Amino acid sequence: MPRFRDPPDPLFQRLNASIGFDRRLAPYDVQQSRAHARALRAAGILDSEELARMEQGLDTVADELEGGSFPIADAEEDIHVAIERRLTEIVGPLGGKLHTGRSRNDQVATDVALYVRDHAALARQLAGSLMARLLELAERHAAWPMPGYTHLQRAQPVYLGHHLLAYFWMLRRDASRFAQVGESAGELPLGAGALAGVNWDLDRQEVARELGFDSLAPNSIDAVSNRDFVLDYLSAASICAMHLSRLGAEIVLWSSDEFSFCEVAEDFSSGSSIMPQKKNPDAAELLRAKAPRIASGFLTLAGVMHGLPLAYSKDLQEDKEALFDAVDSLELCLEAAERMLGGLSFHRERLAEAAADEFGAATDIADLLVRKGMPFREAHGVVGGLVREALDQGKALSELTPAELSRHSHLLDDSYYEVLRAGQWLESKGSVGGTASARLAEQLDAARVALEEVRR
Ligand code: ARG
Repeated sequence: MPRFRDPPDPLFQRLNASIGFDRRLAPYDVQQSRAHARALRAAGILDSEELARMEQGLDTVADELEGGSFPIADAEEDIHVAIERRLTEIVGPLGGKLHTGRSRNDQVATDVALYVRDHAALARQLAGSLMARLLELAERHAAWPMPGYTHLQRAQPVYLGHHLLAYFWMLRRDASRFAQVGESAGELPLGAGALAGVNWDLDRQEVARELGFDSLAPNSIDAVSNRDFVLDYLSAASICAMHLSRLGAEIVLWSSDEFSFCEVAEDFSSGSSIMPQKKNPDAAELLRAKAPRIASGFLTLAGVMHGLPLAYSKDLQEDKEALFDAVDSLELCLEAAERMLGGLSFHRERLAEAAADEFGAATDIADLLVRKGMPFREAHGVVGGLVREALDQGKALSELTPAELSRHSHLLDDSYYEVLRAGQWLESKGSVGGTASARLAEQLDAARVALEEVRR
């Protein structure tokens, strides 16, 4: 005699159902059901003949899901109900034994943890491929000068390889974060039941081992209400997408006629429907634009979790679409970024010409005065005066005469012109992590080691 007399209102059904989007948990649901069935057997709840039939039934379900013939019944609520219903159609009333000692609350938490673990590992792998691509580009362009920027104003020249490696290290941190996400999804919720634990002595350690969890969730209440691992994924994904958006934004700028630093290959560009001459860096623009969408997934779930009383509430069902959308967007962006960079070409002459802007040596001239005994702040003022004078006269810094120089400081002698010899100001940046060739070579070595670690 069921609890309810009235059927659900169709509007309630639509609001309540997650079957429209939680289907992608199906392989994980089957996987955990196999492990759970074996635990039921070990606890004497199923006999071995029943376990064999149950496993065969689950195999059929898995085949149907994979082959696309799995039938979804009308008004089915979620994938967990659907799989149990289908299993029961296949194996008969025995299917009804599978839910012994399990609640959908620990079940869904387990499925989502498995899903997050897999996709965190995939994101790490894709980040690794992008790192490899960046490293390869950095090696190829290690000796190409370009202007470095602050405030998007030319600041000091750097090597293009050095600039590209900045993105490599961002991705390296992303890869570490995705490894941490794997750890945070590593506690097994199954066995927590609805919230209080279950009435059966199921071997959770064995279930954890079979499903690849590192340990058991230590508190059943926390186990069914915890979605930190989803937030961890969304947080790592948001930061990673932000990195990709900065990369995309630079490629958009750099491929403009105004910069002309690089060119995106045709297979990652589009034309205009009206202007026949156009070649637009749409892929880079979309890398730039996807970041807020992924970050909004984090905000959505943080909002859902905020102030939510323990333990499970249906609010938690809202974790999935935010997660799935972020996974799809991030994985696509990581792969596309790698491929797009593969076809990117840089314009050496144009970069070198822009890097030759002598104002990029202003700090080096100030440092020259410091070496001759002047306090840096004072030297900063003197060089500021030189820059002003050069701008007023429409000259380059090296075109100022010795007489003009001495009006600014008696310390300015021939060594001033030495400093301005092209190339000096890149090679003078010899601090650890700086752009000087020897330091860049060290950095490339460190990047190779870091990439190996990510790929291990
Ligand atoms: N579809 C649900 C979810 O995504 C599964 C858990 C339902 N649990 C419950 N007590 N109604 O969270």
